[in-house]
Amino acid sequence: MKVLITGITGFVGNHLEAFLKDKADVYGTSRSNRSEKHIFEIDFHSEAKIIELIETIKPTHIFHLAGLSNVKDSWSHKADFIQANVIGTIHLLEAVRKVDTQIKVLTVGSSEEYGLISKGVDKVTEETALNPVSPYGISKCAISMLVNLYHKSYGLDITHARPFNHIGPGQRLGFVTSDFAYQIALINKEITKDSILKIGNLNTARDFTDVRDIVEAYYNIACFGKAGEAYNVCTGQGIIIQDILETFISFSNKKINVLVDPSKLRVAEMPRLVGDPEKLFWLTGWKPKQKLEDTLKDIYDYWIGKC
Ligand code: GDD
Repeated sequence: MKVLITGITGFVGNHLEAFLKDKADVYGTSRSNRSEKHIFEIDFHSEAKIIELIETIKPTHIFHLAGLSNVKDSWSHKADFIQANVIGTIHLLEAVRKVDTQIKVLTVGSSEEYGLISKGVDKVTEETALNPVSPYGISKCAISMLVNLYHKSYGLDITHARPFNHIGPGQRLGFVTSDFAYQIALINKEITKDSILKIGNLNTARDFTDVRDIVEAYYNIACFGKAGEAYNVCTGQGIIIQDILETFISFSNKKINVLVDPSKLRVAEMPRLVGDPEKLFWLTGWKPKQKLEDTLKDIYDYWIGKC
């Protein structure tokens, strides 16, 4: 197995590379210049450069992780999200179509593709209608449609992962668990004196999976997934953000004062997004292994180490 991971230096890319270490010959792309021999500096504005890269590496599998991932940011950078996620994916799929249609490609979507869910639906399956409510969700929804198009029209061997919230050590700020853990770490190390933790909307419920389980799911989908199909990657458990906050506060040795920061609230968002993981389970037997509380502790320890 010869793998190309686009966005290898990102949060998920790092974990996927570690997971594939003993399983594959791994190459990657990054937006910034790196000294490692197996990482190529490339952005996805140029189809010609991607063609050249694929011809050089000759991968058997491509994991397309490169793109923009922050839902809140997508409201203020709408065109950038379409450029990076949609146009970037078109360039990659065109390159694969022109160089070698036998390459197995895994694209990464999001639970944000589902967006507005009908009342009474507890867990969304892959059959649930796609009604995105954020610019980010629209960009990921377009990737789903491109997967369908390139598979049906050109016979490309593509599968599409739809991860729900994925978290873990190394995720940058701007995502809820890093935002909470970082601020509590600052307070515990007495770098912040006022012990105020700024938060956004605590009333939503989301489905959280450890990134180390997520990358194993991606591997399973890339190896065993049916071309043209999408697979939810999730636990099936809805966790209210308030509960995440309380778990982090329980790790703290200092008193924490919580304050709602209006700049952290979004124009629109779904109150609940919980997935049904059965399709992937029946295909590959994949189940998440990490306990949420252990993952939250790892995230907290990561930020304690960083501050
Ligand atoms: N980021 C952030 N920061 N979110 C907060 C905060 C805060 O201080 N306080 C409350 N929240 C709430 C958000 O309003 C949202 O309802 C929830 O916490 C999760 O927010 P994020 O961690 O930013 O994740 P997301 O759900 O918007 O998107 C993530 O999951 C998607 C899959 O469901 C990202 O990882 C996406 O890339 C991914 O596709």
